[in-house]
Amino acid sequence: MLSKKILEALNKQVLMEAQSSQAYLGMASWAEIQPGLDGVAAFFFKHSDEERMHMLKLIHFINERGGFAVIPALQQPALTFVSLKKAFEELLKHELAVSESINDLVDISLQEKDYATHNFLQWYVMEQMEEEKLAMDCNAKLEMIGDDRSGLYLFDRDIMSMGAGGGRK
Ligand code: FEO
Repeated sequence: MLSKKILEALNKQVLMEAQSSQAYLGMASWAEIQPGLDGVAAFFFKHSDEERMHMLKLIHFINERGGFAVIPALQQPALTFVSLKKAFEELLKHELAVSESINDLVDISLQEKDYATHNFLQWYVMEQMEEEKLAMDCNAKLEMIGDDRSGLYLFDRDIMSMGAGGGRK
């Protein structure tokens, strides 16, 4: 059984994952209409799907433990980006905020002595480590590339093999 405090915190995380999915869907749609960013668009679409999966995993966990997962209303995400670099900076910022939220949730699970939830959350802790690393790698590469068009071409070609969209199951 979930305590009221844990239930609220888990439902807040449902919202966060849903908003992540929506934010990356916004990036995907933007990337899809940019010339030459097919690989990046595919990466964002896949990343958006993964965030939805993170949300679903939480929803099932909450409901299976006697809670009620609330399906939240979503804000419209950013629709356009001044550059690919800016989009990836946003992605990193977003992932760092998600990590902070997961860490807070882990903290609450310990305060509440809810070891089942604590155990469940370890998957998210590991996932966030991978996602932060991937976002930082992408940002570092884009920093190096700058305005070099051939560099951007290679980045777009290689992004799906950079550990992108692997996702933990
Ligand atoms: Fe599920 Fe990347 O946050």
